[in-house]
Amino acid sequence: MKPIQVGLLGIGVVGSGTFNVLKRNQQEIQRRAGRGIEITMVADLDEARARAVVGPDVQVVNDARKVIANPDIDIVIELIGGYGIAKTLVLEAIAAGKHVVTANKALLAVHGTEIFAAASAKGVMVAFEAAVAGGIPIIKALREGLTANRIEWIAGIINGTTNFILSEMRSKGLDFGVVLKEAQRLGYAEADPTFDIEGIDAAHKATIMSAIAFGVPVQFDKAYVEGITKLSAQDIKYAEQLGYRIKLLGIAKRRPEGIELRVHPSLVPSKRLIANVEGAMNAVVVQGDAVGTTLYYGKGAGSEPTASAVIADLVDITRLHTADSAQRVPHLAFQPNAMSDTPI
Ligand code: HSE
Repeated sequence: MKPIQVGLLGIGVVGSGTFNVLKRNQQEIQRRAGRGIEITMVADLDEARARAVVGPDVQVVNDARKVIANPDIDIVIELIGGYGIAKTLVLEAIAAGKHVVTANKALLAVHGTEIFAAASAKGVMVAFEAAVAGGIPIIKALREGLTANRIEWIAGIINGTTNFILSEMRSKGLDFGVVLKEAQRLGYAEADPTFDIEGIDAAHKATIMSAIAFGVPVQFDKAYVEGITKLSAQDIKYAEQLGYRIKLLGIAKRRPEGIELRVHPSLVPSKRLIANVEGAMNAVVVQGDAVGTTLYYGKGAGSEPTASAVIADLVDITRLHTADSAQRVPHLAFQPNAMSDTPI
């Protein structure tokens, strides 16, 4: 079967990771998807940057609409970010009958209801594993693995930049500004780091998780949001003396009167697992009525961890998009004669 063709909008940190991982693990991914997946067209304002990543065999354009207009493209990956042009392009891609994969938490937290409605009306999928907690498959966990549960609450460290800042301030006694610059250099921070340090990015992610866990509309405007900018090194030190670590937590909780949605610095007892999540790592704790407490931990940002989530969505869509119904089931995809993969 011909590989499914994918168009990529924006080839920065996550886009280049996606291209590279897709290429590097091509065979594994094809085996799991039941079909090859190829990025055949890339749109980026900086064509030279795009060409340097994808080489000579991929079509590079500087106009995203050319990707959307290409009838051979079945899936569009949106990695532009923000609510502006990204929203227009996602809606245009949906209108053109393309499935969409996006890492854009801001867009979904604010305009998700409109975007999902447009996708349903058109019969296409919008997948967004990469929008929450980077490489941790938390969307899949909430939607599939925990689907039998009544979710009671979710609490997580879902912004790597602020966790990195808090960790470095605590362990190395560094100043806030110095650590923020380092987080930006490492590619963790948002284009506008205010979104990180003011808790907005975490609130976007908590909003998306709460919509999935509790079946409520995405409603970012209802979230209580407080970041880490008012914290001093002394706060962190005093907390430690009292047996606590300060963590920026995103919390979504079922209450009799409705869903509580909040992001703010929290005192977490130092012995708790989540208190020991350091650096740009993420961790999400989910409480379900049947399963009890489960914990998900991993890299919440960065090029290849986020690419891992983007590609998981590509594989899901490819499975569902293929005509052969047997391939829609994420079964154990045996590779005949793959003796080298056989445990010995
Ligand atoms: N700025 C985000 C973070 C990137 O630091 O977690 C991943 O969403």
